Amino acid sequence: MKIICAKDYEHASKIAANMIAAQVIMKPDSVLGLATGSTPLGAYEQLIEWHQKGYLNFSKIRTINLDEYRGLCPENEQSYHFYMKEHFLGHINITNEQTYIPDGTEPDADKACADYDAIIDTCGGIDLQILGLGHNGHIGFNEPEAFFSKGTHCVKLAESTIRANARFFASINDVPKEAYTMGIKSIMQAKKIMIMVSGEAKKDIVRQAFFGTITPQVPASVLQLHRDVVLVGDEAALAECPIERDKELWNR
Ligand code: GLP
Repeated sequence: MKIICAKDYEHASKIAANMIAAQVIMKPDSVLGLATGSTPLGAYEQLIEWHQKGYLNFSKIRTINLDEYRGLCPENEQSYHFYMKEHFLGHINITNEQTYIPDGTEPDADKACADYDAIIDTCGGIDLQILGLGHNGHIGFNEPEAFFSKGTHCVKLAESTIRANARFFASINDVPKEAYTMGIKSIMQAKKIMIMVSGEAKKDIVRQAFFGTITPQVPASVLQLHRDVVLVGDEAALAECPIERDKELWNR
């Protein structure tokens, strides 16, 4: 695992955007696995700026998002469909047909999940998977469990996740209780993974996930087993990690 210690959120976002841009430039028909949450916003903003300046062409890129709330339609402002359009996909040269997000409006969970796995297969897997980290160690919406999940599945969101994500909703009661998420196996099959972390509130879970025991109780800990993973974090989020503070790039 490579760990990149940026000085702050802005710096981390620039580094992450550079890595995504390099992927798009080196393999213009890449399949990008995309994440939501507040952490990737700075990187998306930078990519949009580079695209608008003519430096990045997304015309052959396909994107596969990690997850969607069950029951939310794409027009709902809290849906991940809406988030992606608003913060990234709506500002670059990519068509709707090239972008995939689980269908939160499909009431049949088995169908929604099987359809999404078929899409991932048809795309030939993911070249670069971008991840954020939940406060309880979740990736996508893979919550702490007794085992690592495989394919796309319907999850019951943990209370702590509902509380953490309530900030995006009018009230905590509006936060959906379930979501469709890509599974750990699909994430681990990505050729490369970049996970982004930011802020002091994540420092304990970051240490547990990347320097602790590999356990499904901390889903992100499985990333320690992936052969091409980069953790990009700011100093605050990496504060509890046993790395040298004055070194920007750390190999583990
Ligand atoms: C949500 C998303 C995750 C994301 C996590 C962290 O639960 N499903 O994909 O990584 O939030 O979000 P943030 O970056 O806002 O801390």
